[in-house]
Amino acid sequence: MRIPDEVRADIPLTRKVAYLDNAATSLTPAPVVEAVVRYYMEYKGNVHRGVHSLSEEASRAFHEAREKVAHFINASPEEVVFVGNTTEALNCVALGLTFDPGDIVVTTELEHHSNFLPFLRLQNRGVTMKVLEAVPPGVLDGEQMEKIQGAHLVTCSMISNAMGTVLPVQEIGAAARKEGALFCVDAAQAAGHVPLDVRKLGCDFLAFSGHKGPMGPTGIGVLFMKERVQNQMEPCFLGGGAVKDVSLSGYQLADVPHGFEPGTPNIAGAIGLGAALDYIRKIGISHVQKQEALLTRLTVDEFSSIPHVTWYGSRELETHAGVISFTVEGMNSHDVASILDTHGIMVRSGHHCALPIMKKLCIPGTVRASYHCYNTVQEVELMVDIVREVSRTLAG
Ligand SMILES: Cc1ncc(COP(=O)(O)O)c(C=O)c1O
Repeated sequence: MRIPDEVRADIPLTRKVAYLDNAATSLTPAPVVEAVVRYYMEYKGNVHRGVHSLSEEASRAFHEAREKVAHFINASPEEVVFVGNTTEALNCVALGLTFDPGDIVVTTELEHHSNFLPFLRLQNRGVTMKVLEAVPPGVLDGEQMEKIQGAHLVTCSMISNAMGTVLPVQEIGAAARKEGALFCVDAAQAAGHVPLDVRKLGCDFLAFSGHKGPMGPTGIGVLFMKERVQNQMEPCFLGGGAVKDVSLSGYQLADVPHGFEPGTPNIAGAIGLGAALDYIRKIGISHVQKQEALLTRLTVDEFSSIPHVTWYGSRELETHAGVISFTVEGMNSHDVASILDTHGIMVRSGHHCALPIMKKLCIPGTVRASYHCYNTVQEVELMVDIVREVSRTLAG
């Protein structure tokens, strides 16, 4: 598929607005929406519950969606658990593992609250939380790796949603493995933007949402659980579909993934996510990367020459994703975002659910432009022009 034009043709909203808030959620192309509608209109049935033909067809489509996810991250389908979103996946890891008092969990100062709070709460169970600290302009401090020593679990994001920084996950994973620690990756900002390979990452857990980079529906997410660690995990919830056998005195849990998916799952969401992954494959992830790199370079080059504007994240563009966080001196981030909105440009403002890094940088929040393959040079130039104009009024 040719980007951005062919993708834009599939997303009517791109004709109405300049949508630069992809880190929050991405727009959804027509073929993905159609796959969801097809399920509701043509073969709606519950999965794994009936012998009638609609149930069988729905179960087949649901299973195919799992296979597509497995292929997308180089896992086996038996390692792919459908959940609601990244947040749920990361909470499953924090609550599903057994920790003893004194166990060490390591995370980073660049995390989204969803990869911070579930693990911070473990302190109530006597777990020690260690944080790999960040330094301005929003990158990991290279001197922090020794904090991984003695860790039981290390969890970090691949890409910071607040700074756009690409974290050194390979290095962090290698340090975790050296300590015999479990390694969990928050891929919420990576999925659909960069290639994902759980074997190359060497992770035990990986979490992502369908609605962000994959351009799928909301309410569907993935928790990859490596086969080797599955026997260390307890599901957070139990119920229908999650057991092999039940008696008055006990139960036998079904194998992963079913043991971790009690109740009726988000069938339409999973089918939509499968269609979204097909769509990404048709575009080619390297083309997505290329377009986002082009727009990122353009943005930081322009921002670097605008007075009163500070942009955050890595100065090396190989480690800066298409998420550009910036402040305009003396202006509230929400006011900047509101001005952009009046010009039809959608960006996010505030702390981006990443208060630890905001506090480290002593800022209440930033404006954040985040890109996908359907964004254009013209959209970025329009945003830059308005930011330049805002900066000029400050100087005057
Ligand atoms: C890095 C990161 N992790 C986790 C999340 C949580 O994702 P969700 O709201 O889909 O659960 C986000 C959302 O912005 C994120 O950017």
